[in-house]
Amino acid sequence: MSHPEHDPAVQPRHRVAYDHVLQAIGWTPLIRLNAVTKGIRTPVYGKAEFMNPGGSVKDRIGPAIVEAAERSGELRPGGTIVEGTSGNTGVGLALAAAIKGYRCVFTIPDKMSQEKVRLLKAFGAEVIVTPSAVAPDHPDNYVMMAKRIAHETPNAILANQFYNDANPQAHYRTTGPELWEQTGGRITHFVSAAGTGGTITGAGRYLKEKNPAVRVIGGDPVGSIIAGYSKTGVKGESAPYKVEGIGQDKIPGTLDMSVVDEWRSVDDRSAMALARRLTREEGLFVGGSTGLIAHVALEVAREVDDPQACVVCILCDTGERYLSKTYSDEWMRENRLMDPVRVTASEMIRQKEDKAPRELISVTPETPVRRALALVTANDVSQLPVVAEGDCVGHLSEATLMARVLESTAVLDQAVQTLMEPPLPVVDSHIDLPAITRLLTRQNPAVLVREGGRLAGIVTRFDVLRYLTDAR
Ligand SMILES: Cc1ncc(COP(=O)(O)O)c(C=O)c1O
Repeated sequence: MSHPEHDPAVQPRHRVAYDHVLQAIGWTPLIRLNAVTKGIRTPVYGKAEFMNPGGSVKDRIGPAIVEAAERSGELRPGGTIVEGTSGNTGVGLALAAAIKGYRCVFTIPDKMSQEKVRLLKAFGAEVIVTPSAVAPDHPDNYVMMAKRIAHETPNAILANQFYNDANPQAHYRTTGPELWEQTGGRITHFVSAAGTGGTITGAGRYLKEKNPAVRVIGGDPVGSIIAGYSKTGVKGESAPYKVEGIGQDKIPGTLDMSVVDEWRSVDDRSAMALARRLTREEGLFVGGSTGLIAHVALEVAREVDDPQACVVCILCDTGERYLSKTYSDEWMRENRLMDPVRVTASEMIRQKEDKAPRELISVTPETPVRRALALVTANDVSQLPVVAEGDCVGHLSEATLMARVLESTAVLDQAVQTLMEPPLPVVDSHIDLPAITRLLTRQNPAVLVREGGRLAGIVTRFDVLRYLTDAR
């Protein structure tokens, strides 16, 4: 696709010096996806909005909203900008406020990452964290609270991104034209999502004006009401989801549903998984909403299956805002967005050896009980396998051994085969923890692990419990 005039080597970005950072917003790169599109003939590009100075697509609307309020006389010098934000619009507004000398007060739902709260404070904004699990019209809802604060604060404006036409207008004036020019007018499918709907509405509207055949497709988190509403016209019940910045429990004023040809619902797990792949396989460090949008873009590209087509998706914001979430294996597992680590028997005995390096402690059928007892106490083991010719032929548990010796010390000089219990199950080293746990019963207090053709270790009930509690 790269035409000579589009070759970055020929067309360096930011050729001129800027008077201030706001002038550096926009003209973000359009980058082809390669690794994640393996086997798909349709070219797919990502519009790298995370490369804006504030790290997201919302940089475009921050200054636009502020300048519109200045033009209307609503916002006067020394004024305060108030807004309810999932974080990114706050940064876009804070960039404009920093340059123009305004104060910022933002309300943000507690669902959003800590990174975003700290980031807004880093820009000098006052940040109020509100409960996420309240209805859109509840006084503690972040938008409702922002409205109240703006109303009660002298010389303050509410940015009102969900109903402010300056939002989609900014994308109609900038994002749309950039996409058209960067694809040489070849774009056939534009894929985005909707928080306010400003991006998909503004850019979609422009592209359809240039070529009515352009398909505008919206991705929507499972739990948001938008996709359902597009199909039934009914505003259903929303449900919680983890992806941030997109999806809705109401239909914003800035979302023009008529611009969007189709909506597709995507679950958090798929969205987060693809965000991580874009980072690790394409070097595009992005957040979950981008993972969701790219998931739809790949689906569409697969269906279109045409090398002449051109699918473009929005890469909304930087992954740096989700280091404690999308990029934390622990958080992902806690939220069941990633499979638990597959722990195998060999991993279990490895971990034991790290703590107490030693060979498998075992005895032969002829070993005197006295010797077995000495091994149990000296090595602090609860189970002692009895091994003959490399196979487990029985076992001695510490409890039974103690009980029998206390009953009659005469057994001390007997061979262990006289009082051993049935052999322990032997498992292959690749077997995983759930399978081991299923084998561990009253009868089987432990399993032996065969690795490289020999009995390499033992996993007891206590080892599994300790592993599970340590893993918590
Ligand atoms: C991370 C992220 N992705 C996507 C969007 C959607 O953008 P828009 O509000 O233009 O629909 C937002 C909006 O806040 C966002 O924060």
